[in-house]
Amino acid sequence: MKNIIFLTAISLLIFTACKTVDNEASGEAEKLLGKKIDSVLALMTLEEKIGQLNQYSGDGEQTGPVTLRPDLLQSIRDGKVGSMLNIIGAGYTRKIQKIAVEESRLKIPLIFGYDVIHGFKTIFPVPLGESASWDTEAVERAARVAGTEASAAGQHWTFAPMVDIARDPRWGRIMEGSGEDPYLGSRMAEARVKGFQGKDLSDITTILACAKHFAGYGDSQAGRDYFTTDISENALREVYLPPFKAAADAGVATFMTGFNDLNGIPVTGNKYLVNDILKNEWKYKGMVVSDWASIGGMITHGIAANTYEAGELAFNAGVDMDMEGKVYLTELKNLLKDGKITEGQIDESVCRVLRLKFLLGLFDDPYRYCNIEREASTLLKPEFLAEARDAARKSFVLLKNENRVLPLSLSVKSVALIGPASDAALDMIGTWSGRGEAKHVITLKKELETRLGAAKVIYAQGAGFNDDDKSGFAAALAAARKAEVIIAACGEAGNMSGESLCRTDIGIPGVQEELILELAKLGKPLVLVLFNGRPLILTKVNTFVPAILEAWLPGTMAGPALCDVLFGDYNPSGKLPVTFPYALGQIPIFYNHKNSGRPIKQDDRYTSHYLDAPNDPLFPFGFGLSYTQFAYNNLIISESTITGNKPLEVRVDVKNTGQVAGTETAQLYIRDLVGSVTRPVMELKGFKKVMLKAGEVQTISFTVTMEDLSFYNRQGVWGTEPGKFKIFVGTNSRNTMEAGFELR
Ligand code: NOJ
Repeated sequence: MKNIIFLTAISLLIFTACKTVDNEASGEAEKLLGKKIDSVLALMTLEEKIGQLNQYSGDGEQTGPVTLRPDLLQSIRDGKVGSMLNIIGAGYTRKIQKIAVEESRLKIPLIFGYDVIHGFKTIFPVPLGESASWDTEAVERAARVAGTEASAAGQHWTFAPMVDIARDPRWGRIMEGSGEDPYLGSRMAEARVKGFQGKDLSDITTILACAKHFAGYGDSQAGRDYFTTDISENALREVYLPPFKAAADAGVATFMTGFNDLNGIPVTGNKYLVNDILKNEWKYKGMVVSDWASIGGMITHGIAANTYEAGELAFNAGVDMDMEGKVYLTELKNLLKDGKITEGQIDESVCRVLRLKFLLGLFDDPYRYCNIEREASTLLKPEFLAEARDAARKSFVLLKNENRVLPLSLSVKSVALIGPASDAALDMIGTWSGRGEAKHVITLKKELETRLGAAKVIYAQGAGFNDDDKSGFAAALAAARKAEVIIAACGEAGNMSGESLCRTDIGIPGVQEELILELAKLGKPLVLVLFNGRPLILTKVNTFVPAILEAWLPGTMAGPALCDVLFGDYNPSGKLPVTFPYALGQIPIFYNHKNSGRPIKQDDRYTSHYLDAPNDPLFPFGFGLSYTQFAYNNLIISESTITGNKPLEVRVDVKNTGQVAGTETAQLYIRDLVGSVTRPVMELKGFKKVMLKAGEVQTISFTVTMEDLSFYNRQGVWGTEPGKFKIFVGTNSRNTMEAGFELR
């Protein structure tokens, strides 16, 4: 790379004009970076600047209409492209990068981006499943593996983590986030950002992360993707924004806006959200990209008459880069000419883009991520597969285990393996599975046969995932009759959750529920292993099936991870990051709801309830069993009254009262009893994982800070209010011990 031109320009500049660098507050390294950015900016024509704000898709996965561009490569030569998505592979990215750095006037390298959501080649559980581990270190390691693989395949940037809080399981993209809780979601957001970005973006195993979809997208009305959102300021600040703030504080390099209309203004054109909150209030210095053609999408929303108006809205809102929309490319110059935007704004956005290119080291060596030998030796490393297996087994949630059906003994005489998920390799990795391939997946069937010997595994699929064909029932029941134990591997196909994959009926699809109930009638030990990217309604099967293991969509190492848990080599420890409803009509249902003026009261008609279903879900947020049991005792809080900024210490003894070692996730919730605006009945504010040997007791301590007690008050200010609080500590959001204190 010939960067003499930049170095000359650098030496001419004395101070940094780039607004993304705070000259007063920044350290020397940041100031130098600012000067480098300026030096490039100083050489650019207006067209080249606008080009940096334009992102095109290559021919990998596409998730929306593709702009027709037979002249794509020419656009790169002309300096009209700042970034590409969906160009995968060290060799392919090198080829395209070569055009940018050898054939364009300024030789500015491209950034390559891709949706690396739960793994690149080694596929981890879907993010919702990973979050069920409540294990931030494991989640960080998973993102580190994904970043290492993706970077080896030429990628600089992942469009992850998705940090949208989702309270409606009909929404297909619930699988892509961390569930319903802002606190858990924030911890997971930080972990994933740290994992993808590592400690230093110039390390070639790290990639830029992207907090998306800013903001509120997870609240799509009716659980239907791309639909409207209408969110109060309080809910926005307290529920939907915290994971984004956590990602920003963790240094996430980029943000992506979403497709949703938020309170009448689509988020891609929402100045209040992007410019005022993100860039000004949070002082965010990273770069903001639109979602796929979401700038032009504002015409369809009915808030812009044409691309000119859409571009004006998005650019003035603070969206720096246009993903696959061509709106900035065609309209920014016109908008500038008409005085609707300023060149200063364009420069600032370009600075944000160039900054990333410098941080990635692309100006030093634009090919540093394009090494085909590294790619070949990095993907699917045994240690990555070991991480994926560990992440998967940590993600499994034991929902029921009557009569201790689980764990199974290795000396079991025979197992009937029934159900469409038993040997469905591709379905194990779900959607957003990067470059994951079915051929690398070890299915449950394969692993069971390895562990028990093929002769002991009697397999019959029984039913498809989502059809009404019962012709396989007879063979499945015959197989089940012959076996000592039945495992039913059922649930959703891998492509039943994800973008644009919403459902109105979130029962176990097709005729599978019927099949499971038939199997249950045999009265044999029956384990239902469930695969799904969202909560399902399990009320009926829960009545008849003795053991249920929630396995989500576990990834490449599905089979080994499942057998680790099924045979007790690993004691399940996952906890639900999202509520499992009792009935469809309860949706949206989430644990941190408000109390209402008439909360449900037994036998009192004029209280908040249903005629035909309980208010409670089937499985509450935070729920998950183990092969052992845990008892909570001696809840102690350091003070009954706190003042000033003094944090509160909360301690509790957790005892493993069972026969085997196990890991418990103790959860701490608070309730502010009276506020200037009504407060949720409980809010998660801490969790701790602890491994306890049989009979062992450990004292777990939590620190509750003023930030934990803060909320967005009636004056629109974030802070605490004096008054009484409750503290709940326990094994899930329903089963807790309580204490109280007062904040003065
Ligand atoms: C659309 C999706 O909403 C977004 O999450 C994704 O990153 C982009 N497409 C790019 O594939």
